Formats: sequence, structure tokens, C-alpha cells
Amino acid sequence: MRAAAGLEFAGVSRAFTVAGQARPVLAGIDLTVAPGEVIALLGPSGCGKSTLLRLAAGLDTPTTGSVSVDGRPVRGVESRCAVVFQEPRLLPWRTLHRNVAYGLPRGVTGPAAAAEVDRLLELVGLGGFARHRPRQLSGGMAQRAALARALALQPGVLLLDEPFASLDALTRLRMQDLLADVQRTAGTTVLLVTHDVEEALHLADRVVLLGAGEESIRLVLPVPGARPRDRGDSALAELRTALLTELGVRTLQGRKHA
Ligand SMILES: Nc1ncnc2c1ncn2[C@@H]1O[C@H](COP(=O)(O)OP(=O)(O)O)[C@@H](O)[C@H]1O
Ligand SMILES: [Mg+2]
Repeated sequence: MRAAAGLEFAGVSRAFTVAGQARPVLAGIDLTVAPGEVIALLGPSGCGKSTLLRLAAGLDTPTTGSVSVDGRPVRGVESRCAVVFQEPRLLPWRTLHRNVAYGLPRGVTGPAAAAEVDRLLELVGLGGFARHRPRQLSGGMAQRAALARALALQPGVLLLDEPFASLDALTRLRMQDLLADVQRTAGTTVLLVTHDVEEALHLADRVVLLGAGEESIRLVLPVPGARPRDRGDSALAELRTALLTELGVRTLQGRKHA
């Protein structure tokens, strides 16, 4: 397994030109993510969360500033980062084994490759499904396969763009625990985009709240306590209220303090 990588955004902004007008989406992003750290990115739709992940993955380039992985600037598609999207994006005609093998770095072939794919399928709880095709899987299983494919790349940084958003509530909780286990085993750095405040507080070392404005980062909130966290922890309940209030959701507790 490749070692976890650090990730740094320095003075990053991104503006898109729409109908001849520059429209700023991200501005003034300064964020240093330590190797092995888990960051959750929260913020309203359209604030630029996916854009930020795309910049880290080298799928897009900043208008100003720089993104670097382990101190080296990201230029072009970044092989040290792997992305999992909201939908699994598996190749429908391939078995799970072949889908995951697709993620392996070039040069890993033969029995070593087969063994690595088996190990990854086992890691995400799909040991018995190597010969299955994507259409034979539930949504949660397909997302686990997508995670295994991303891990096959041996990424220093795992970029997750609302990976559990389309799953039912119970599957989502199971997937969160799976991600926590996988992250502990692989030790990977994780940047997780989510709409789910509970998910952010359960999984992340720090929660970064993005918004519109001159500075995209509205708040960086360290989450106390070691992972894995107890979902019922009362300290987390207070942070949850604080975050929901920031996001413009009224809560009973928030009103009491208002
Ligand atoms: N390639 C692009 N060209 C023009 N506008 C874009 C492009 N990519 C994203 N945007 C715009 O940037 C904003 C942020 O998008 P996105 O990063 O997907 O937001 P989020 O993931 O937070 O919902 C949106 O208004 C979106 O329409
Ligand atoms: Mg998005």
C-alpha cells in the first residue's frame, strides 16, 4: 500500500466563464490536509465542493493558486489521488473482479494482480462476488466495488464525492462504518464531500464548511475524540447543532440559544 499523502490548497480560486462573464465559484482556499487525515466538506449545493475535488484530482485547474500532493504540484490527472463519485460508474459488461482490476496501476499484472483484487474485494466485504456483474448488485454493493476500484490505484489521497448520497439510510450507516474501517486499514488521506452532517461528524477529523463569498471556507471545525466515534456522543450533538445552524437549518437547540 502506498503511504498516505498530504494535500495542500494554497490561495486556490476557480472562476468559470459563463456567457462571457467570469463567475467565481471558489475563492481564497487555503487548506492543508495532513497525511492520514479525514476531512469532510460540507456546504450548500453549487458552492464548489465537487470543483474542489476535481482540482485535487487534476481533472480541473485552478484560476489562481496551486494544489499539491506531498509538496508536488498537481499537473494533469493525478495518479496519487483516486475519486469515488455518487454513482458507482462500473463497466456493466465486466465482472466485479475485472472492474476492480481496472483500477490497478499499470505494471501490476498476473497472479499478483489477481491476489490484490481478491484482497480488495475482501476488504470491502465483497469476497464472494468476484464473478458477479454490476447489474446483479445492490446500490450499496456497487458503491463498495467502486471503493475497491479506487483503492486498487493505491492512492495517497481518496477523494469521495457524496459517495453514499443515493443509498438508503441503513445502507449509508453501514457504508460509513466500512469506510472508517477501510481508512484505518489503508491509512489513506480522505477528502469526503457530504450533505450529511452526522456523516461528517462520525467520520472526519475536521469538518470544512464551504459557502459563497470572498473566502469560500466559512468554518473549519476540528471534531474531538478519536475515530471510530460513538454516534450518540453528546459532544457531537452540540457540533451538529452548530453546523446545522451555519447551514441555515433551524434546530430546537439552536433556537434556544438564539
Ligand atoms: N465546467 C463548468 N463550467 C461552468 N460552470 C461550472 C462548471 N463546473 C461547475 N460549474 C458551476 O460551478 C458551481 C459549483 O459547482 P459544483 O462544484 O459542482 O458544486 P457542488 O458540488 O458544491 O454542488 C455551480 O454553479 C456549477 O454550475
Ligand atoms: Mg457536487
